[in-house]
Amino acid sequence: MSISYKKETGVFQLNTPNTSYIIGLVDKEKFVGHIYYGRKLENDDFSYLMRTRENPFVPSENARDRNSFLDSFPMEYPGSGVGDYREGAIGVRTLRGHEGVLPLYQSHKIYPGKPKLPGLPATWGEASDCDTLELTLTDEVSGLEVTLFYTAFSKLDAITRSVQVKNHGTDTLYLTKVMSAAFDMDNDKEFEMLTMHGSWARERRIQKKPIGYGKQSCGSIRGESSHQEHPFLALLEKGTNQKRGEVYAMNFVYSGNFLAQVEQSQFDSMRVMMGIHPENFCWELKTGEAFWAPEVVMVYSHKGLGGMTRTFHDLYRNHLIRGEYRDKKRPILINNWEATYFDFNTEKLLDIAKEASQLGIEMLVMDDGWFGARNDDNTSLGDWEVNETKIQGGLKHLVDEVNKLGMKFGIWFEPEMISPDSNLFREHPDWAIQMPDRTPSLARNQLVLDLSRPEIVDYIYEKVAKILRSANIEYVKWDMNRQLNDLGSLGLSPERQGELSHRYMLAVYEMQDRLTKEFPHLLLENCSGGGARFDAGMLYYSPQIWCSDDTDAIERLSIQEGTAMIYPLSAMGAHVSDCPNHTVGRKTPFETRGYVALAGTFGYELDVTKIPQEDRDMIPAQIAMYHKYNDLVRGGDYYRIASYRENHGYDCYEVVAKDKSEALVTFIQVMGRANCHSRRIYLDGLDENVKYRIEGEERTYLGSTLMYGGLQVENLWGDFQGKLIYLKAEVDK
Ligand code: GLA
Repeated sequence: MSISYKKETGVFQLNTPNTSYIIGLVDKEKFVGHIYYGRKLENDDFSYLMRTRENPFVPSENARDRNSFLDSFPMEYPGSGVGDYREGAIGVRTLRGHEGVLPLYQSHKIYPGKPKLPGLPATWGEASDCDTLELTLTDEVSGLEVTLFYTAFSKLDAITRSVQVKNHGTDTLYLTKVMSAAFDMDNDKEFEMLTMHGSWARERRIQKKPIGYGKQSCGSIRGESSHQEHPFLALLEKGTNQKRGEVYAMNFVYSGNFLAQVEQSQFDSMRVMMGIHPENFCWELKTGEAFWAPEVVMVYSHKGLGGMTRTFHDLYRNHLIRGEYRDKKRPILINNWEATYFDFNTEKLLDIAKEASQLGIEMLVMDDGWFGARNDDNTSLGDWEVNETKIQGGLKHLVDEVNKLGMKFGIWFEPEMISPDSNLFREHPDWAIQMPDRTPSLARNQLVLDLSRPEIVDYIYEKVAKILRSANIEYVKWDMNRQLNDLGSLGLSPERQGELSHRYMLAVYEMQDRLTKEFPHLLLENCSGGGARFDAGMLYYSPQIWCSDDTDAIERLSIQEGTAMIYPLSAMGAHVSDCPNHTVGRKTPFETRGYVALAGTFGYELDVTKIPQEDRDMIPAQIAMYHKYNDLVRGGDYYRIASYRENHGYDCYEVVAKDKSEALVTFIQVMGRANCHSRRIYLDGLDENVKYRIEGEERTYLGSTLMYGGLQVENLWGDFQGKLIYLKAEVDK
């Protein structure tokens, strides 16, 4: 059992292989304090770390300064409004309009395994994988019961958290805030805060800044996890790099609004929290009703960011991603979006498919524009009927023809949306999210369906499912191309309007759950204007997510670096696309585009009938590389060797097989250099004592030589050049 409770000291200890998370009870008052999180501690008495024997002492010893106690005590799950002026993790408003809550210890349970979160994505684990602590707190005045769930994984340095809130009082309560995880710790190591930011076509750029007094946060109130900020936060001890330093990371298993915040107090402690963003959030809790806050994954590493990354990858590959494709090579697809945009028909698609199948591409994906009267992005979302003027002979005919070529067929949907110019909107103008009397702001000329209404969810699900039932469709790209605003539902009471954004997310999850149950063999890829919903919530439903609409190989280096810092390469949708690139106009060699896309799910997004012959000729070799390396890329350990974002010259990462028998290094030289030596790169993760042969070279190198002496990569000729270096362990004869 990796969780223990010592009654004598009132201390809970959660252990993973290398970490401990320690919580303490203050006996008389029943305060729940945060004692410690970090490197594993052995059995001892830790309660002194809560500083209850120092000024201002606990209120039972010094009631005149209760307020000072509350404002300095390291709370495990802080309430609000009664004396702690740091931001609380939970907010409650009573019918009388008062806001005050102080959850205190009531009981606990410890058991093997991990409970499911109803209606929400979450990591999962069996009794042999993990143990769970349920810590139940109550606020007697309001009757609110708060249960904190902690699951400690026994083979991974990950602890997950979620919260269930129940109203046991006699009156209705309004939950105005409920963070999924919080803890207080000292800022005594000059911590920096690492977050990820971006925009459309520039997702997940890494930012680091020192933590100072006051609040620093990132968040989304856009109704999705977003391009702009990412539901992730890491605290880095000063000087942390890929290999060294302490890292405390939190990642939200949720795809909607979020807040990730650190607040440094007057006493140099930090309050760290993550959960649903409180802005526009208010949940009505009638007597007896409960609310579940989504899961936060916490990872601690004392081996730098690299250690953190590998824990997230293993956790998500083994305890989050599900379905038939989880551990399988994905079919190499060709998507017609950048090839044709809206200008296609059956003939054009079949031309692409014919050429693609001869080159070894395995699946054709028909993107936006096959339904209603959608010949541009102004119309028809919601009208999920095949446009037979474009798809002559119908969808089944097209799919059958593609299948005859030996290829699979996939299709694009944007189920959550409605165009004002659509039959659906003409029939149901009230189905869009909107506030009465206010004209909702359009984005890409579209509105968002009010998925808090079950009749709308059922209608849309049936429309999508009917298409999927009509032909042999083996892949769906589920897109979401605008963010939410004008938050109003014509189906919710005034008291429940603040529930809309979360109800919306629950409905998206429910629809994807239904879809994957009805079509268990379907490969689902989530997408949102590129990578605005690349998050752990979506990974629970789809094993891969489109990483960004920016398919330029050089831009992708930073986007994929940020993405792969948390998420496994097996989940990163990456394609070789046209040149000059449609987003930045950059010209990069076809080989380099291939090397960069090989770090992800791999596919093509170009008109294969139109590209230069010399590029087309390279496709079979790229496909062969995919087949050769993909098991390693999908299942191996990822090491970030160098970052173009930091050094402005070159990018390098390595994937090492779990048994260290092989490794693949991707080296991209962004800028050519004059009159230089070769570059020395230091590999990682190899077996020190094993000899590795680099493919194409005669000699072998010891793992220790490659890791500590380094491997020399010659200067390549020109900008945007790349190479793959494949190493295999020599078996002694
Ligand atoms: C989004 C997606 C693209 C493409 C278009 C279609 O931008 O990210 O890949 O599917 O929508 O409209």
